[in-house]
Amino acid sequence: MFHKRLVKEFKENKKYIIGIVALQWLSLIANVIFLHATAGIISLLYRKEVTTRWAMFYFITLCFVLIARSLFNHAATTLSYRASSKVKIGLRDKIYRKLLRLGGSYREHIATSVAVQISTEGVEQLEIYFGKYMPQFFYSLLAPISLFVIVGRMSFKVAILLLLCVPMIPISIIAVQKIAKKMLNKYWGAYTDLGDSFLENLQGLTTLKIFQAEKYYAKKMDEEAEKFRKVTMRVLIMQLNSISVMDLIAYGGSAFGILFAIFEYQKGVISLSACFFIIMVSAEFFLPLRLLGSFFHIAMNGNAAANKIFALLDLEEPVKGTVVSVTLDCIKLQNITFGYEKERTVLTDISMEIKKGQFTALVGASGCGKSTIASLLMGQLKGYEGEIFFGDTNIARLKEETLYQTVTRITHDSYLFQGSVRENLRFGNPKATDKELEEALRKVALYDFISKNGGLSMELKEKASNLSGGQRQRLSLARAILHQSDVYLFDEATSNIDAESENKIMQVITELSKVKTVILISHRLANVVSADQIYVLKDGKIVEEGNHKKLIRQMGYYYNLFESQKILESSTWEEAYE
Ligand SMILES: Nc1ncnc2c1ncn2[C@@H]1O[C@H](COP(=O)(O)OP(=O)(O)OP(=O)(O)O)[C@@H](O)[C@H]1O
Ligand SMILES: [Mg+2]
Repeated sequence: MFHKRLVKEFKENKKYIIGIVALQWLSLIANVIFLHATAGIISLLYRKEVTTRWAMFYFITLCFVLIARSLFNHAATTLSYRASSKVKIGLRDKIYRKLLRLGGSYREHIATSVAVQISTEGVEQLEIYFGKYMPQFFYSLLAPISLFVIVGRMSFKVAILLLLCVPMIPISIIAVQKIAKKMLNKYWGAYTDLGDSFLENLQGLTTLKIFQAEKYYAKKMDEEAEKFRKVTMRVLIMQLNSISVMDLIAYGGSAFGILFAIFEYQKGVISLSACFFIIMVSAEFFLPLRLLGSFFHIAMNGNAAANKIFALLDLEEPVKGTVVSVTLDCIKLQNITFGYEKERTVLTDISMEIKKGQFTALVGASGCGKSTIASLLMGQLKGYEGEIFFGDTNIARLKEETLYQTVTRITHDSYLFQGSVRENLRFGNPKATDKELEEALRKVALYDFISKNGGLSMELKEKASNLSGGQRQRLSLARAILHQSDVYLFDEATSNIDAESENKIMQVITELSKVKTVILISHRLANVVSADQIYVLKDGKIVEEGNHKKLIRQMGYYYNLFESQKILESSTWEEAYE
């Protein structure tokens, strides 16, 4: 009946649930008093025996009951709100913390859209679970028993008859439960699939338009939406049908009880006022369970959502390192073999030694594994053979914050946030003064442009779309410089940008390499000529290493790559001049 784990995780909600049930019960008793008085006055009216005293008494009772009921209901609603808000805040907090603990690699386990959906809509579904469904469950057991005791004092036969009809509602609920469970899991599956496609297609809309593929993808999304519509409709039909069945049982059962009460009155077993009372109260035997039935479907939905939430919360977390300080005389990769999938090895037996202050370059054809090495150095990939050391410390033992403070990775699409240039730069160093920020902008030759456009307060749009590609890159570089880490890892930081920006960035990298440890991954070999040590990769293996001069002298793979690039670049220039 209840989601065990959910109940266990929110044990402290017990007090609210008990409170709500008690208030609902008090409200029922107030209602019984009111119905009792009403039945009394109707029977007096019938017998034309109403006196002013009786009328006054009835009026006072009515006022008392109305006030009492509205107070009880208000208090119950407040408690219900407290219970559900605690659950919502608690769960969102747990999900948020879990995602933080999973760190940058959370996307290996769960799509962003699924994380968003379960922490918004999914958590929302659980509001009714604690605030309404659970208290209603206990109340709907308590109410018929209480009424049985009250009605039983008037007519035991009618009371037992009504009580015996009551379990038919939970029986019908259980019958629907089996179908509902499967259907709701399907519903959630279709919902998250649709959300996934929507988010991806929206993000890639410009690309879809450029390739005129938007119609095809719109059709695919239509199909998914249709699938979602169908399963939603099936869920609704099931809910409506089961509510109709419950209505039939509730009102049929109370009609049965009413008829029986009238027979009892005719036989003279019960008084007229008792008969009126039973006529009015008989539906109350069934209504709480009927309401529980209608919450039940929402609760089932909550169950399905809770399963998804707990699946996320139970994801295995990477073992976190604890070492906070590191003496960085050297970074070593020792016999690293790695593959993203078991069947395919991407890196084979990679060994590298990057000394403090050394300018190291990684080159090789596209797909040879350069960025994979960068991700390994950032601690983002696990499950490799071999070892990576920062000084004497194995990377696995390093605390994430320390690693991120030690190494700054700059890619060709480093993320810039909506907000001012100042805010974006301060990610690099929250304590930096405006003067220091301006100095960093000067270093990357962006100061003039920014100061003409509002200075440090210039507002950037999402992903800094109001800057050019080269400007974005230079701004990312300025932010990286401000970070003042010991190691800088540039992964194709100059791809897709203009020659001027590329030259500027390369100048900064060369300057930086004089004072910091720089690792440069570049497809353009002209950029790595001044590196102290160049590792040449081919199909995930290091095939050559040394400085530019040595590698050229070897006349091997690097030499061929370099020469062919030189010819390609000069022929492009020649063609342009022809
Ligand atoms: N997340 C991933 N899951 C599975 N395979 C991946 C993943 N990332 C990269 N690969 C595979 O690993 C191999 C090496 O990729 P990597 O990105 O390291 O190459 P690269 O040398 O940086 O190439 P480029 O110069 O084009 O950036 C490729 O064959 C690629 O298909
Ligand atoms: Mg790459």
